[in-house]
Amino acid sequence: MKRVFLDYNATCPPLAEAIEAFARTAREAGGNPSSLHWSGRAARKTLEDAREALAAFVGADPGEIVLTSGATEANNLAIAGVLAEAPRGEIVISAIEHPSVREAAKAWAARFGHRVVEVPPERNGRISAERFCAAVSSSTRLACLMWANNETGVIQPVEEVVSALAARGIPVLVDGVQALGKIPVDVHALGADFVSFSAHKIGGVKGVGALFVRRGMRLAPLLAGGGQERGRRSGTENPPGAAAFAAALGRVDFAACASLRAHLEARLKAAFGEDVMIFGEDAPRLANTTMFGIRGMDGETLLMQMDLAGFAVSAGSACASGKHEPSHVLAAMRAPRAYAHGAIRVSLGPGVRSEDLDAFVDALEKARERLKLMAGWG
Ligand SMILES: Cc1ncc(COP(=O)(O)O)c(C=O)c1O
Repeated sequence: MKRVFLDYNATCPPLAEAIEAFARTAREAGGNPSSLHWSGRAARKTLEDAREALAAFVGADPGEIVLTSGATEANNLAIAGVLAEAPRGEIVISAIEHPSVREAAKAWAARFGHRVVEVPPERNGRISAERFCAAVSSSTRLACLMWANNETGVIQPVEEVVSALAARGIPVLVDGVQALGKIPVDVHALGADFVSFSAHKIGGVKGVGALFVRRGMRLAPLLAGGGQERGRRSGTENPPGAAAFAAALGRVDFAACASLRAHLEARLKAAFGEDVMIFGEDAPRLANTTMFGIRGMDGETLLMQMDLAGFAVSAGSACASGKHEPSHVLAAMRAPRAYAHGAIRVSLGPGVRSEDLDAFVDALEKARERLKLMAGWG
């Protein structure tokens, strides 16, 4: 059976260049970057080269990049680091943030005595910049809006929000994980205070990420220890992981997936007609992402059927206490339940061909017929 990977927003499997850079660094620069001798200096150089490459790629200065264990840590660092020292107030987030922002906001706000204010999206999955900024008050300590949503691919109005809030002196965290490598990213042009990134979404290795911290921003560290990363992130750094991140930068052209995605969506509509809904279809979206729902189906059951047929995709519902609930993103979009329940996310990347997508739609049709029959027997 042929296996087709259609889950690039979950992760982009490590690229050959990244694996090579990781192995080379581990072999040739295996020292501790904090050591003063030749071995440490070689590791330090690799680390700083990687930091410079990342900074150049995202339009930052190297000194503004804090390397972390991934975007989950980067988001937690920004949120905890700001809330810890701020007078009691609130953190404003969009209702469609990734759990590494949403859950972190709830946890750190509770810990430091702040409130969380959630702003829902419009029905097409896009946050209204006006509504978002209206939810921000003079007691807002941090506002969080993702650059692009990982489930629907909908691109958010971060430029408008950042410029409006900067004028009011409100710090903003932008989760840039799904934007990196998929749309142009320039953090200085954006003007955000904090932007998080993850290496494994662009073909680096897992467990590596970064937080851009605009020069001059105050930020309490999350981890206490040896004071690495200019005191912002203690712990021995990961030169091989950083080198792999740098090697992956700009290697995958996700924008080139636009015509493949159009092909897939046309095929889905031809096959399922009124029974398919594409979430966020009329909003600006990442070119590689489509999230759709098949009426009357269950997303996780469909996912398993597709897995058996060799296709790796994600479902937009999660099994909570035996009941399959639509994802928090689709729920916040007020997506019709009959469709949201059967939501599947396809995210494209290198190596996917249009024949694979034809085979995917054929397999999906077969799965639906099979499941309908089974339901009839039940
Ligand atoms: C939008 C978004 N933010 C944050 C993360 C977390 O990144 P990491 O896996 O590096 O912790 C992900 C990936 O799961 C994501 O898609």
